[in-house]
Amino acid sequence: MDAMVMRKNVNILLFFLLKNREEAVEMNVVEFDKVAREVFAPAYIAFARQIKEATGITRGVCLDAGAGGGYLSIALAEATDLDMILLDQSQEMQDIADRNILEAGLGKRLCTLFADVHEIPLDDCSVDLVVSRGSVFFWKDQAKAFREIYRVIVPGGVTFVGGGFGSVELKKRIDEKMMERNKDWLEHTRGRMDVNRMEKFHAALGKAGVPYEIRPVEAGFGIMIRKAAS
Ligand SMILES: C[S@@+](CC[C@H](N)C(=O)[O-])C[C@H]1O[C@@H](n2cnc3c(N)ncnc32)[C@H](O)[C@@H]1O
Repeated sequence: MDAMVMRKNVNILLFFLLKNREEAVEMNVVEFDKVAREVFAPAYIAFARQIKEATGITRGVCLDAGAGGGYLSIALAEATDLDMILLDQSQEMQDIADRNILEAGLGKRLCTLFADVHEIPLDDCSVDLVVSRGSVFFWKDQAKAFREIYRVIVPGGVTFVGGGFGSVELKKRIDEKMMERNKDWLEHTRGRMDVNRMEKFHAALGKAGVPYEIRPVEAGFGIMIRKAAS
């Protein structure tokens, strides 16, 4: 994995879908991590619980696609016996994730992988579960990414790729805190779970030709792609 690691000292571009147009909002990686720690923290634990309930997979290897600072991976590892691979295309995010993994004392079970979800440098049928939170909205060719994800899961494996806040109450608290930081927060996030967005996922998943369902959970959703057991 080390050979693939390249240093990128750039800010991460986070794209938020606005009402009628797409606008790129630049957010410093350090700032994003501060928000993850100070505002989103409880949502990771709740989303990890929803993943565990929906998939029933609690051991083996799990890939977190677009893992960011690693908070979902850490929450899921703490709730299960899974070993986690934290894939992200931002080296700065990976540096933060590496620090968080060490701080959580999970260095033996979690590792980072600097890569693009559209070209996952893992063998076919090599992971039991793929999870992802808040990243799928940024994937440039979702059909290609879904095919890649399908390729790497084992027969009998499944995914939970989506977004969410764990509960309506948590989302309300997060919205309130985020509004203090950014008055446009609700506008930025509104489109994420609407019908049009789901239609786009259905179109990309249909194009990818993978078997799937989109599972709604409280204050979120997960795209569950399954590979039939052989
Ligand atoms: C909004 S952040 C979410 C991070 C984390 N999952 C969380 O919930 O805190 C989106 C992450 O997806 C990553 N990402 C976006 N497109 C990606 C791609 N094509 N391949 C890998 N990572 C990607 C970004 O670098 C970023 O860390």
